[in-house]
Amino acid sequence: MCGIVGIVGHSPVAPLIVDALKRLEYRGYDSAGVATIEHGKLARRRAEGKLVNLERRLAEEPLGGFIGIGHTRWATHGVPNEVNAHPHFSEDVAIVHNGIIENFSELRSELVAEGFVFASQTDTEVVAHLVSRALRGGASPQEAAFSALKRLKGAFALAILFRGDEDLIIGARSGPPLAVGHGEGEMFLGSDAIALAPFTDAITYLEDGDWVVVRRSGMQIFDMEGRPVERPRQQSVGTSFLVDKGNHRHFMEKEIHEQPEVISHTLANYLDFAEGGVRAFEMPFDFGKIDRLAVSACGTAYLAGLIGKYWLERYARLPVDIDIASEFRYREMPLSKSSAALFVSQSGETADTLASLRYCRAQGVPIASIVNVRDSTIARESDGIFPTLAGPEIGVASTKAFTCQLAIFAALAARAGLQRGTLSDEEARRMVRALSEAPRYAAQALRLEGHIEKIARELSQVRHVLYLGRDTSYPLAMEGALKLKEISYIHAEGYAAGELKHGPIALIDESMPVIVIAPTDRIFEKTVSNMQEVAARGGRIILITDEAGAARASLDKFETIVMPTMPEFIAPIVYALPVQMLAYHTAVAMGTDVDQPRNLAKSVTVE
Ligand code: F6R
Repeated sequence: MCGIVGIVGHSPVAPLIVDALKRLEYRGYDSAGVATIEHGKLARRRAEGKLVNLERRLAEEPLGGFIGIGHTRWATHGVPNEVNAHPHFSEDVAIVHNGIIENFSELRSELVAEGFVFASQTDTEVVAHLVSRALRGGASPQEAAFSALKRLKGAFALAILFRGDEDLIIGARSGPPLAVGHGEGEMFLGSDAIALAPFTDAITYLEDGDWVVVRRSGMQIFDMEGRPVERPRQQSVGTSFLVDKGNHRHFMEKEIHEQPEVISHTLANYLDFAEGGVRAFEMPFDFGKIDRLAVSACGTAYLAGLIGKYWLERYARLPVDIDIASEFRYREMPLSKSSAALFVSQSGETADTLASLRYCRAQGVPIASIVNVRDSTIARESDGIFPTLAGPEIGVASTKAFTCQLAIFAALAARAGLQRGTLSDEEARRMVRALSEAPRYAAQALRLEGHIEKIARELSQVRHVLYLGRDTSYPLAMEGALKLKEISYIHAEGYAAGELKHGPIALIDESMPVIVIAPTDRIFEKTVSNMQEVAARGGRIILITDEAGAARASLDKFETIVMPTMPEFIAPIVYALPVQMLAYHTAVAMGTDVDQPRNLAKSVTVE
């Protein structure tokens, strides 16, 4: 979840490294640092907190040097302070690391016993000392790096600088991604292609277990046995996007507002609006030939999968098992040969989701994934991908990737219904027509922002919030609660409205706002009954519904967010927007760091 960069260039690299780190800051922002070699000497600048602190530090004490490495950190071992900030040094070696060295305490004891002195509490420092020890023993940098790598257990991407060599960075990958960027007489390393976008779009991805020797003249990749291997050079697809807030205050705000457009782009990939049909997009399995689908994902992507389950089961009569990936990977679920597996991930790098994918790979079932980053590890290890065309999502809280994931699940439900014969052509066409309207309704939902902002100001005064919904509004209620807690730090829970009386109703009093998501669907009246139960106990209700719903839910004390009237099928996609805006404006009112909330990171490459 940290971001790493390395440059062997032909001009001072520190400002370029900082530029690349800005594009990686979504991966963690507990601290940042840069190390370079100038006039044969290793030097570094590090700072606790966000990258701006490092920039200030570099403005006061600039770093020269045409070769360097940089890091932005999401703390795993050791508190987020300057001492624990990367790069870490050991004698002639500087190192940056993303991931976790699982056997670090054993290695640390071994190195301490030999007299190595540790300056930090990080697991990373053991790698620096292991390399140093090998160099002391007469190994070349390449031999030293290889011997150190062989001792490491865990998940890591590394970049290593060697004091005596101003034309050498060694990188390694075991788990988290690492990309090599090819320039003209200069070479780059980065956690992803977006980081390297200002420099090059010619990218080679290391495979798991690979390590690479990078020089200005080019690079050589080796596998974990030390054998030279060839990996393809690709044109990165991530580079055409500018990572820029435009005239928005936050990336999250920008990304919420982009939704009508990106939902429309995504849908157009899977649906033929002109013909009103489902496109014949490539799939690694036929819905008509499987009898079960195992879906797994984490966080918001998991909640998109949960809504997908409702749709696939309802419209295609396909049983779907949906799991949180960190549970799925260890629960040893039996998968029959007639099953298929589907993974959902914005980043395509989430460690638990990737491990779940590999479990399914070992079971021999076909694997598809819904990903936003097309050249991510999950995408590359899948038999087929359904790309969301959301563009780079920078705000740590997922918004547009979520609605695009929903758009794909909706299109898959129509396709599956046709392939399994549970939907007639006309029914599928009706679904496609409804979906084609989703971007328009999303644009209308954005116009409710002023009203939502007022409600959010009130929400910012409370400490606890309950979200309720039924059917597809239930996962959305959980998503609303997740969004609220992660960016405003208000404690929020999402419940199935029917579960209320089985426990959570005990929490209701005058100080507890209850946000109810209830489009007028088949079970609207049931949700209204649950609202009555809340109202009877003095709870403050905020109802998100449509005009008919607002008229039918005749309660005394409640706020309403009145959404446009739309087909029930697409409601979760469109209702996601007020839910996101409520969280966003509550966080803004509270003054929290919306795009980079505390303790979080965008791409969770550790378990
Ligand atoms: C919440 C959020 C996270 C991610 C989760 C999975 O707003 O963004 O819950 O959804 O970490 O990430 P991906 O989709 O990259 O696998």
